[in-house]
Amino acid sequence: LIFPGREWNETVILSRSMGATISIVGAGRVGRTLGRRLHELGWTIDAVVTRSRATARSAVRSIGAGRAHGALTRQVLAADLVLIATPDDAIASVATALARMGGAEWKGRVVLHTSGALDRSALQPLSVQGAATGSLHPLQTFTGRGTPRLEGLVFTVEGDRRALAMARKIALALGGVPVTIDGRNKPAYHAAGAFVAGHLLAVLEAATQMFMRIGYSRRRAAQALLPLAHQMLENFQRHGPRVAWTGPLSRGDFATVGKHLEALQQFPREFQEAYAALTRLGARTLARNPQAVLAKLDRVLRGARGGKS
Ligand SMILES: NC(=O)c1ccc[n+]([C@@H]2O[C@H](COP(=O)([O-])OP(=O)(O)OC[C@H]3O[C@@H](n4cnc5c(N)ncnc54)[C@H](OP(=O)(O)O)[C@@H]3O)[C@@H](O)[C@H]2O)c1
Repeated sequence: LIFPGREWNETVILSRSMGATISIVGAGRVGRTLGRRLHELGWTIDAVVTRSRATARSAVRSIGAGRAHGALTRQVLAADLVLIATPDDAIASVATALARMGGAEWKGRVVLHTSGALDRSALQPLSVQGAATGSLHPLQTFTGRGTPRLEGLVFTVEGDRRALAMARKIALALGGVPVTIDGRNKPAYHAAGAFVAGHLLAVLEAATQMFMRIGYSRRRAAQALLPLAHQMLENFQRHGPRVAWTGPLSRGDFATVGKHLEALQQFPREFQEAYAALTRLGARTLARNPQAVLAKLDRVLRGARGGKS
């Protein structure tokens, strides 16, 4: 197999990996998406484990390959690689249960999980048994509706030597860009991702609900707000944060910020709290002189709080 533009050794690794078999433990939104694409690329999918026969069968149908298991099973040991894509909170207990099932048979195998916030230490019971452990996090939002493109996506990877090599290999096979980070930085890395995926969504929905409160339909609100959001993103991408920054704070219109805070009092308190926190964040991250802007802003914020009581 030839992948133009890739280094020779990565091409060789990719070719060799086609023989690798993968078991997937936890086949929901992420497990199915990665499993399906890897299967399409010629990797062999072995055990597919969820918490019920019904969901496991549905996962196998969605992936297009694999053997369905409705509970953890030793069968996962038949694969060279085990990919754990359960919710974060289940990873450690799954690792403990698998370590108990396989014991020393884990030696030489590779186990990766797909959590953004956790690092390989969540798989410690397996590494104690001799497995190479790491994590492979696709920085994308998977909703289960439609499949986001994996090509060009950053896959954040970390792990011990063999696990890291396997994580990079998978990311490259999927057309992604592997970026290695120190496992200790994963919570901060994931919090940054949450700002963009989750918090941006909450902000967009808050603005939508405010529009609806003053008479817009949801459809009209989307029609009004989405071009604004798209243009801001395009400005950020093309010109960077400073050029993309518009709005009262960027102009020093502190009185307008005060009016916003006053208007927000008619909404649930989280609206005003978020507005205040995000305005301060804007000053901190976007202003040329954050201290000066924050000092003025804090006077306005204190005034708004005073006006409330
Ligand atoms: N969704 C995203 O946008 C996204 C993006 C990047 C990374 N991630 C990470 O990927 C991982 C999976 O997230 P997801 O959104 O794909 O989760 P999900 O859609 O909720 O799927 C979780 C899967 O794990 C199975 N499961 C739960 N507990 C289990 C257990 N104890 N033993 C075996 N299987 C178990 C579930 O079984 P059932 O099917 O039977 O319920 C389901 O198949 C998480 O670590 C998450 O942080 C998620």
